[in-house]
Amino acid sequence: MKTTKVYDCTMIELDRHHVPQGNISVVENEKDVPFEIKRVYYLYDVPGGESRGAHAHKELYQLIVAASGSFSVTLDDGEVKRTFLLNRPYQGLLVVPGIWRTLDDFSSGSVCMVLASEKYKEDDYIRDYDEFLTYKNNKNDTQTC
Ligand code: TYD
Repeated sequence: MKTTKVYDCTMIELDRHHVPQGNISVVENEKDVPFEIKRVYYLYDVPGGESRGAHAHKELYQLIVAASGSFSVTLDDGEVKRTFLLNRPYQGLLVVPGIWRTLDDFSSGSVCMVLASEKYKEDDYIRDYDEFLTYKNNKNDTQTC
């Protein structure tokens, strides 16, 4: 996805059920997210001041949720950067393929839950920023992603 832009990434309001005993938010395949969820993983015990991410994916769609606490997600399409503060367990940030992302400012005890459209594949990652810029600038390559 060489041509995607940070403006293709949006905050999605999730289903929220409030009962006196606490709240529940629900994410259902292809209903609440525009992809089929094949994997869920979560980041936790992130040390203060630590940064995560610093990579892009060629095909992977993700919904990033601050299941607990807060953190910032900075998205970059090679031209424009946008930073989102995630601090509500009933909101998810949809990140489309072809976007460089960095996560930082994790609050103590925060949990970053990621719903992903594909199983883990290391060759879907671009981990070098210059390589990412080259990838985004070669829009007319015959590769589909
Ligand atoms: P990575 O995606 O680079 O972490 P982050 O972007 O959150 O900083 O993954 C960190 C390590 O965990 C890396 O060695 C690969 C491994 N990993 C898996 O084995 N399976 C997975 O589903 C994920 C997300 C990571």
